[in-house]
Amino acid sequence: MTNRKKLLFIFGTRPEAIKLAPLVLEFRKHPQFDVKVCVTAQHRQMLDQVLAFFEITPDYDLDIMKPNQTLFDVTADGLKAMEKVLKSFEPSLVFVQGDTTTSFIGALGAYYCKIKVAHIEAGLRSGNKYSPFPEEVNRILAGHLSDYHFTPTPQSDANLKKENITENIFGVGNTVIDALFLGLDLLKKRGEESFQAFFKEIDLSKRMVLITGHRRESFGEPFENICEAIKTCAERFPAVEFVYPVHLNPNVQQPVNRMLSGLKNVHLIAPLGYEHFIWLMNKSYVVLTDSGGLQEEAPALGKPVLVMREVTERQEGVDSGTAKLVGTNKQLIIDELSLLLSDTKAYDKMAKAINPYGDGTSCKKIVDIVAKLKF
Ligand code: UD1
Ligand code: UDP
Repeated sequence: MTNRKKLLFIFGTRPEAIKLAPLVLEFRKHPQFDVKVCVTAQHRQMLDQVLAFFEITPDYDLDIMKPNQTLFDVTADGLKAMEKVLKSFEPSLVFVQGDTTTSFIGALGAYYCKIKVAHIEAGLRSGNKYSPFPEEVNRILAGHLSDYHFTPTPQSDANLKKENITENIFGVGNTVIDALFLGLDLLKKRGEESFQAFFKEIDLSKRMVLITGHRRESFGEPFENICEAIKTCAERFPAVEFVYPVHLNPNVQQPVNRMLSGLKNVHLIAPLGYEHFIWLMNKSYVVLTDSGGLQEEAPALGKPVLVMREVTERQEGVDSGTAKLVGTNKQLIIDELSLLLSDTKAYDKMAKAINPYGDGTSCKKIVDIVAKLKF
């Protein structure tokens, strides 16, 4: 087919891959688009897990990840490496997602080549440029470099307008819900037994606290507070399983392994493939996290979320009562987690399935909109 519109998806980390995979798959159903994927591979193993699950083979792999990389490394190495790709493929539209350093440099690289940019999950703001760091500034920069803004909620539209971004804002929901529903669908076909066998070290008949944590602004003392709080709760509630798939960042691995190994009911495990992770989240009782994606997925599954951050750009979950901010304050984490594990009334109040972030049709909506755009 001649005159196919050339689309380039640029992403680099696990959450971007999860949130863009269903969109890549949706665009690929439409022959009028020539869809290519460029991964910076800012993450390696954790990115490859997602690519394998959604069966996406990148057309370009910049393979930039280095152990314990700095923001300078990712920014400079990624931007330089994508120049060749942008200049050889010459896309007419580049897609970036969210607020990682790859999202920012993907938008910047496209802008340098005067290529239009579509920003998926546009308009999230915490209002604090150091929390989350550097994501708040990454998404502001990506937003201002972009031409089309696909927002998850009305609050995100309003945030953009406050910054004088007033055109080409499309409220479509968050593609993470598409990924979650697609993932849950694929799970059903697999059967329970393979998952139970995979998690044989965990007593699945018990209540489970699912934990993730990796934010840069929490490195050092805040992370130690988090680990101490988990340790105290694990000792206080011996009949509860605490499961923590530990992010591969050495700044996370080090304190978590040092402070939490050897506790009988604390399971420190490797990062999970998306299918295993959402299966486990579905089985969990409470989610304790600082992740952005989990604040969106857990409410959709009716799981109370304690958010280990001082501020959040995902206020919708907090407003609807399924998420609560506990920061990295040791005592507050202990108090709020203990309350959920011992008071069923408090638990039931938070455990309700709500979905402010989308209904699983975001990707279809985006494809319909892009098909009508002139670029
Ligand atoms: C990055 C994003 C953050 C996002 C998070 C999702 C930036 C600045 N940060 O943070 O917004 O929420 O991903 O997880 O864009 N590592 C591995 N293997 C992997 C992934 C990471 O070994 O597959 C280790 C490496 O030592 C690497 C380090 O983790 O240098 C940090 O990775 P990086 O992408 O720089 O930061 P994250 O904390 O993962
Ligand atoms: N996730 C996963 N395996 C894990 C932990 C998380 O697949 O071991 C998924 C989770 O379902 C969510 C995403 O990864 O969709 C969140 O990624 P992360 O916490 O790394 O980044 P953030 O959302 O904070 O940017």
